[in-house]
Amino acid sequence: MKHLRGIPELGVEGIVRILNLADHMVEVNRRPVPKVPALVGRTVVSLFFEDSTRTRISFETAAKRLSADIMTFSVSTSSVNKGESLRDTIETVSAMGVAAFIVRHKTSGVPWQVSQWTDASIINAGDGWHQHPTQALLDCHTIRTELGRPATEDCLAGLRIAIVGDVRHSRVARSDIQAFTALGARVVVVAPRTLLPPEVHTWPVEVTSDLDSVVADVDVVYMLRMQRERMSEALVPDLGEYSNRFGLDHARAARLRDECLVMHPGPMNRGVEMLVDPADLRRSVVTRQVSNGVAVRMAVLFDVLGDTNPEVAS
Ligand code: NCD
Repeated sequence: MKHLRGIPELGVEGIVRILNLADHMVEVNRRPVPKVPALVGRTVVSLFFEDSTRTRISFETAAKRLSADIMTFSVSTSSVNKGESLRDTIETVSAMGVAAFIVRHKTSGVPWQVSQWTDASIINAGDGWHQHPTQALLDCHTIRTELGRPATEDCLAGLRIAIVGDVRHSRVARSDIQAFTALGARVVVVAPRTLLPPEVHTWPVEVTSDLDSVVADVDVVYMLRMQRERMSEALVPDLGEYSNRFGLDHARAARLRDECLVMHPGPMNRGVEMLVDPADLRRSVVTRQVSNGVAVRMAVLFDVLGDTNPEVAS
């Protein structure tokens, strides 16, 4: 695979391939020295035009564990501030001999555009409201490993997953829905009508605005962050009312099935969508999502840049 820009171009075989590689990377990460020489001599540049904590650090940790050289392009101190265009920035940095760019941008479609300006591989770390493929892959990996299922094309079959909150502005929701349904899960989207995209009826999901009617009947509750920075209009007039109807509070948490997983991509708005501390929940896997993120991003970097023989990552 040359690029990882979105879940649809990866396809179900691609998802399964990454999940299998991720198992191998989890094993590498458990070693006393969690590092392999798989990408020695390859240079990876992380280009984040939007704020990020966990995704950037996670990719950088992943690249280092595979022995790649990772350069961080910090937009706030770069020539972008002198008016350099995205295209000039990409062409300049690629002329230095870069094997892959990890790109996050507030505009949907940027990773596809950028891949026309360079021979390097492009890994999408989030574009606008559109795609966040590595988040979806780490979420699939987390769910199936928590349930002890091997990485197969139907490894999420039989599961009903609720995705709750600001679906309209969420690239995580879009990528997760594609990946979860590709692996056989059923998805129910729970949101106020104003936080649903107009095209939701074309998605392979059930839709409801009644969280109480689904909490006791799902295998995973995936809470989304209220994306206030991506909203241009006041879609939720009253945040308190939003929390009452769509927040995970103690009463709803008490109604979850014993084995129901609770997930959140982070960063969390405590007191808005999360009214309970995930640490108090029996089956919260929020921290596990973060640690799995490193292994899954190692798998993606290896798939995009590594030798086709996985033994090289041994
Ligand atoms: C997400 C993102 O940036 O899309 N965060 C993340 O990558 N962990 C979700 C969010 O911002 O709510």
